Amino acid sequence: MTPASPSCGILSSMSGKPGKSFIIIKEIQYISTFSRAVLYCIVVCVSVLTLCVVLVPGSASDAKLSPELQQLVDDYFNWRLQDMPQFATFVGIHDYDDLWDDMSLPAYQSRYNKSQEFLVQAEALEPNLSLHSDLTNLRVLKDDLLTYIEGYPFQGFLVPLNYMEGPHVDLTHIISWMVFETPQDYEKLLSRYGRLPEQLVQIQALMEEGEAVGFLNHAISMNGVVAGLDGFVVSVAEDSPLWSPLTTFPDNFTQEQITDFQTRGAAIITGQVSPAYQQLRDYVSSYTTRPDIAITSLPNGAAIYRQLLRFHTSTSLTPEEIHQIGLDEVTRIEGEMAKIVSELGYNMTVPEFSAMIKNDSTFYYDNADDLLAGFQDLVYNVITPQVPLVFTNIPQAELSVVADPSPGGTGAYYLSGSFDGSRPGVFYVNTYHYDESPKYVMRTLSMHEGNPGHHLQGSHSIESPNMPYFRRVTDDRNYYQAPSRFPMFTAFIEGWGLYAESLGFEMSLYDDPYDRYGHYSEEIFRACRLVVDTGMHALGWSWQEAVDFMLLHTASSRVEIENEVNRYVTWPGQALAYKIGDLKFMELKARAMAEMGASYDIKQFHEVVLESVGPLDLVEDEVDAWINSVI
Ligand SMILES: *[C@@H]1O[C@H](CO)[C@@H](O)[C@H](O)[C@H]1NC(C)=O
Ligand SMILES: *[C@@H]1O[C@H](CO)[C@@H](O)[C@H](O)[C@H]1NC(C)=O
Ligand SMILES: *[C@@H]1O[C@H](CO)[C@@H](O)[C@H](O)[C@H]1NC(C)=O
Ligand SMILES: *[C@@H]1O[C@H](CO)[C@@H](O)[C@H](O)[C@H]1NC(C)=O
Ligand SMILES: *[C@@H]1O[C@H](CO)[C@@H](O)[C@H](O)[C@H]1NC(C)=O
Repeated sequence: MTPASPSCGILSSMSGKPGKSFIIIKEIQYISTFSRAVLYCIVVCVSVLTLCVVLVPGSASDAKLSPELQQLVDDYFNWRLQDMPQFATFVGIHDYDDLWDDMSLPAYQSRYNKSQEFLVQAEALEPNLSLHSDLTNLRVLKDDLLTYIEGYPFQGFLVPLNYMEGPHVDLTHIISWMVFETPQDYEKLLSRYGRLPEQLVQIQALMEEGEAVGFLNHAISMNGVVAGLDGFVVSVAEDSPLWSPLTTFPDNFTQEQITDFQTRGAAIITGQVSPAYQQLRDYVSSYTTRPDIAITSLPNGAAIYRQLLRFHTSTSLTPEEIHQIGLDEVTRIEGEMAKIVSELGYNMTVPEFSAMIKNDSTFYYDNADDLLAGFQDLVYNVITPQVPLVFTNIPQAELSVVADPSPGGTGAYYLSGSFDGSRPGVFYVNTYHYDESPKYVMRTLSMHEGNPGHHLQGSHSIESPNMPYFRRVTDDRNYYQAPSRFPMFTAFIEGWGLYAESLGFEMSLYDDPYDRYGHYSEEIFRACRLVVDTGMHALGWSWQEAVDFMLLHTASSRVEIENEVNRYVTWPGQALAYKIGDLKFMELKARAMAEMGASYDIKQFHEVVLESVGPLDLVEDEVDAWINSVI
C-alpha cells in the first residue's frame, strides 16, 4: 500500500500570505526529480510580526529567561538570520531579501569561528545560571554550536547539488517565501537576482573542491541536475522560472513602475543569470561522481558516516548497532502484522495480505470529497476527543484539515499555525490521488501529521513559555550540508511523529485490525530504513539489495521504494532517525512506568518530553530527572 504516500505541492501554495508566514519542511519522504512528489512535508509557519520582536535589541521574547541568557540567545539567533539571508527569508524576516547565503569556503569557516565565540560566551555564562529552564536552553544552545563545530571538519557543504537541492530547485521556493508588496520589495528581488551569479560560482567552487579532495556525490544523486539547471538557461526572460514574480504586481503600481521592473529584471535574467546557470550546467555535465553508492567509500568515509549518524540520531550508535536494531524491529513488526493476518482468518503471508488489501476497492473512497470528509471526521470527531487521555496542557492552536488537490503527488503534509493564533495549523490531504489513499492508514497518518503528532508537538513549542525563538525555528533546508551544519533534531521531531502514531493504542484508536495493520505497515517502512541505510553506506549492500529488502518487507510500490532508496543514497542517515527517536521515546516511557509504578502518569511524561525538544540525551536526562523528582 502506498504508505500514506503523501506529497506536498509545497511552497507555492504558501505564497498566498505574503509577509505573514514562513515555512519549514519538517519531513521529506522523497522528492524525485522536479514535479514529482515531495512526500510527508511537515511545515511550520510563524508570524513574522511576532518573530520580529527578537530582532529588536534588548527586547524580551516570549520565553522567561534570565537577561544575560536572553541576550546571548537573541544575539545567536539574530546572527543566524543575518548570516544566512535565505534562512531569514524562510523564517519570514525580510530584511536580507536582497542577499544570498554566502557559500564560499571562508564563509563556512567564519561560521565555525563564530560558533566557537558563542560557545565561549555560553560556557562563561553557565556558572551564573541556576534556573532549570535557563540551564536547559543553554544546553540546547551549546548543542547547536557543538554540532556545527564538530561537524565542520567533515565538510558536508562540499556537495551542494543533488536532485532534491540546489539552485535548480531552491529558487522557486525562495521566491515563494519573499514578499512583493512595495517597490522596495521588487528592488530587493532585482538585487538578489543580480547577485545570483556569484552564488552559482561559489557552488561550482565547492563542487570542484569536493572533486579535489574526493568528497563526491553518486550519479544517483546527480540524476536530473543538468536538466534542472537547463531550465534556467533562457534566451527570453519570460521562459525563466525567475520571471514569475515579475508577472503580477500590486494594484497600486503604475504601468511605468511595472515596465521599469520588468525591463531591468529581464536584462538581469538573460544577461547575467542565464549565462551563470549555463556555466554551472556545463560544469555539472562533466562532474566526476563517486562510483560506489556508500558514503563510506569516500576518503575518511567511515568517520563521515559516523558523524552523519550522530547528527541525525543525536546518539553515538554505530552503523552495525543501528542495522541490528532495524532487523529486530522489522522482525517484531512483521510478527505483529502476521498476528493480524491470522486473527482475520487468512492463511497468507504478510506480503500476500498486503497485496490483497492494497488492491481491495472497499478500502478506498471513490471520490475526493469523501476522502477529505473521512479525514475531517477522523481528526475532529475520533482522534481529538481522545487526546486528553494522554496529554495535559494541550496547545490552543487550532488544526484545520484541508484538501490539496494538486496532482503533484499523493498523501498529506502539515503546516503549523502562526504564533498569534491568527492562522490555524493545517493538515493538507492530497485529494487528487484519493484512489491511492487506503482507509487503513488514515488513522496512523492523521496522528503523525496532526494530533498528537507534528501539530501538537510544534504548537506546544510555539506556546511554551520556556522556549526561546532559536528553539522554535529550525533551518530546515540544505540537508546535504549534514553533518557540517546546525542541527535539525531529526530524531526528536520525526521520532515524535512516529511515536505519536503508536499512541493510537493508548488512545483506543486501533481496535479495528485493519487500522492496526495500516499502522504497522507504516512503522515497518521506517524500520526498514535502519537496515538499508546502514546496509548501503556501511555494510556493502548494493542499491538493488536495498530495493529488494524494502520490496520484501513493505507493501510499497517499486517506484516508491526506488525513490526512497535514492533518497537514502543522497542523504545518508537522515531517514533512519525517525525510528531511532521513536525507540528512545518508547524506552523512556517503559523506564518511567517501571520505576514510577503507581506514580507514573503518561500525561506528565509527554509534558516532560515536549518541553525537551533537542538532542535525545537531553530528553533522556529530563525524563530521568522527572522520574527521580517523583519517586
Ligand atoms: C577563523 O579563525 C582562524 C584561527 O583563529 C583564522 O586563522 C581564520 O582566518 C579565521 N577565518 C575566518 C574566515 O574568519
Ligand atoms: C556572572 O556573574 C558575575 C557576578 O554577578 C558577573 O560579574 C559576571 O559578569 C557574570 N558573567 C557573565 C558571563 O555574565
Ligand atoms: C502600494 O501600497 C502599499 C500598501 O499601502 C505600499 O506599501 C506600497 O508602497 C504601495 N506601492 C506603491 C508603488 O506606491
Ligand atoms: C495454509 O496454506 C498452506 C500453503 O498455501 C497450506 O499448506 C496449509 O495447509 C494452509 N493452512 C491452513 C490452516 O489452511
Ligand atoms: C489487483 O487487481 C487487479 C485488477 O482487478 C488484478 O488484475 C490484480 O491481479 C490484482 N492483484 C492482486 C495482488 O490481487
